[in-house]
Amino acid sequence: MRCLPVTKLEEGMVVGKTIYTSDGRPLLRRGIVLEKRHIDRLKRLGVPVIYIEEEPLRGIDAEDIIMDKVRMNAVQEARRLMLKIRRELRFYNKKIFDIDLSEDIERVRKVVDSLMKEVFRTREALYSFIDVRGIEDFIYGHMVNVTVLGMMTGLSLGYKADKLFLLGVGLFLHDIGKALLDDTVLAYQKVFEEEKNPLIIEHTITGYQIVKSIPDVSLLSAHVAYQHHERVDGSGYPRGLSGSDIHDFAKIASVVNVYDILVSGAPFHPRVKPNEAVEIVKRNVGSMFDKEVVEAFLKNVALYPVGSMVRLSTGEIAVVSQTRKGFPDAPVVRIIRDKDGRSLELPVEIDLSVNRDIRVEEIIE
Ligand SMILES: [Fe+2]
Repeated sequence: MRCLPVTKLEEGMVVGKTIYTSDGRPLLRRGIVLEKRHIDRLKRLGVPVIYIEEEPLRGIDAEDIIMDKVRMNAVQEARRLMLKIRRELRFYNKKIFDIDLSEDIERVRKVVDSLMKEVFRTREALYSFIDVRGIEDFIYGHMVNVTVLGMMTGLSLGYKADKLFLLGVGLFLHDIGKALLDDTVLAYQKVFEEEKNPLIIEHTITGYQIVKSIPDVSLLSAHVAYQHHERVDGSGYPRGLSGSDIHDFAKIASVVNVYDILVSGAPFHPRVKPNEAVEIVKRNVGSMFDKEVVEAFLKNVALYPVGSMVRLSTGEIAVVSQTRKGFPDAPVVRIIRDKDGRSLELPVEIDLSVNRDIRVEEIIE
């Protein structure tokens, strides 16, 4: 399979991976031959990319760090929680502190625990997967991705299970304050906070108040919600904290939050290729992000995820077939076209971590 922007889809292409909605229903099943109505629907729902299957790419499988069923359950729980808070605040006019989240937090703990087990199970693997979802479902998938990427980073920083779990709970709840915001307000959020909208700044404060008010939740987890938009140079919000005044958990949240928005695409930000997102993260070390955290984070993400079509330094066109930890920029690729653009009858696989004289030049879509 390979990953293709929805704008490039053509009728007759075959879906390579089932796409689900955040309530767990399949939107398009693997193996379906695309018709115009399918493509129109994907566009309408704002799905940016999907995986498609093609003959020369058979056997290339973009595997998530976490099992599909664990991810789906986590996304559904994220949705349930956000919709509940929204409902209670808007329809029942409750105040933040009157919402009883004691049962919900138990469910969140189970979800975080299941995600953490997966992060431990796949600790030797790179995050080499594009999360495919509609724009309406952005926030729920984002809550899960941030949790997974953040816990992977924590693990690379040497965190043990107890600490990782507190971090995970905080990450899962980092944007909970957004349950109070209208979609129209959220559409104006900026990834790089040149313009600070007071309503958006609010989501960190209300998020903190919500998490803090849940019995038996560590204050550390609440601080992830509070501080995840703080920047190490003091340019963030809501308090403009800098350096060591920002908690390490929040420094992690800050990096993975921006990275996921960049690669997954959000209502307020167009999707960026993973290698470009990594560049952006690196460029902002010292201003937005903590150096040590970014180094730990970068050990975990593939620049060229499985299923990416790439141009090699030899001029050949290939699709990434495998990625390995320790070699984020040197995947195994399957060459499908020669430098003159002719399709190869027998595609060849080469491991770029061994053939160091050949590099990936760019991802082509
Ligand atoms: Fe946020």
